[in-house]
Amino acid sequence: MLSDRKEEHLRIASTRDVRSGRGTGLDRYALWHCALPEMRLEDVNTETSFLGATLGAPLLISAMTGGTPRASQVNANLAQAAQSNGLPFSVGSQRIGLEQPALMSTYRVREFAPDVFLMANLGAVQLNYGVTIDACLRAVSEIGADALALHLNPLQEAIQPQGNTDFAGLIGKIRELCARAPCPVIVKEVGWGISPAVARTLQEAGVAAIDVAGSGGTSWSRVEAHRVASEEDASVAAAFDDWGIPTATALIRAREACPQLPLIASGGIESGTDIVKCLALGANVAGMARPLLAAALESAEATSAVVGIVLRQVRIAMFCLGVTRVSELSPEHLYQREA
Ligand SMILES: Cc1cc2nc3c(=O)[nH]c(=O)nc-3n(C[C@H](O)[C@H](O)[C@H](O)COP(=O)(O)O)c2cc1C
Repeated sequence: MLSDRKEEHLRIASTRDVRSGRGTGLDRYALWHCALPEMRLEDVNTETSFLGATLGAPLLISAMTGGTPRASQVNANLAQAAQSNGLPFSVGSQRIGLEQPALMSTYRVREFAPDVFLMANLGAVQLNYGVTIDACLRAVSEIGADALALHLNPLQEAIQPQGNTDFAGLIGKIRELCARAPCPVIVKEVGWGISPAVARTLQEAGVAAIDVAGSGGTSWSRVEAHRVASEEDASVAAAFDDWGIPTATALIRAREACPQLPLIASGGIESGTDIVKCLALGANVAGMARPLLAAALESAEATSAVVGIVLRQVRIAMFCLGVTRVSELSPEHLYQREA
């Protein structure tokens, strides 16, 4: 059943309109075009460091899938694109792999991506449904990951038929996991955003980084509205079309709440200019999921081609800001558009 759900998610996310009814908030900002950059385009260096790793560019290929043969191919294609561009990559939720060990192979990408900063992935709520801390650590070691990303998805679970909705007492378990894990633990949302209060709580619990995964991109209420069986469930999901903290707001407020914490900005990031805006607003890295899905369902080459376009956009945007290094990007490169 869980495998069927994963297949449906891939089908719906790649063929239906599942964009949030609300924007990311990034269009409120524009970058100060610099007509006199005083540098060469080839002087732009997109390399950056994140949780001790050196990345070819500040772009995370965000968690999407695993657990089925098609999902395995998607992971392999995404991983190859990550390897050839020096990007970090996260597999999708490994719950199926923990429940059915034979399917853990659908998350193994090290043969295609030996050097990539690789993230394992699990729903934090599973800590209340029998997944132990040891099992979380197994999810990391089974695929040779460098970090573990835990996702928080209360709205998705609440809308989804048979969802896991017991989110009580999770922070203590996250704290224990952070203390015991031999690798960084990252906490993310899945498209409704992390508020400043939750960001502070997670930082205090010891998480190494937060992915704000705000609204404006893939909307899980829309995905579930396409998937749910009954009209009643679809009507319930419809009220949440514009739910969530837009990515720009989540990012700005998380940066204020946690000035030193590594932050990933994701949720509706579609271009290199979006990425550069997020970096200027305080993100260390930006993440993309669904914009890469159609290509990842096709081939590694198609995925690399899409990633190549986005990275060219990043380089050109940095050039037209007169910036050679990612670490130079700051709020001074932005202004608020007039209404
Ligand atoms: C098909 C699909 C499957 C996803 N599965 C997962 C998952 O298993 N674990 C997770 O943490 N996030 C998952 N996500 C959420 C993404 O990682 C990301 O946080 C969210 O989609 C926002 O990014 P986007 O607007 O670029 O798609 C999934 C997204 C998509 C599109």
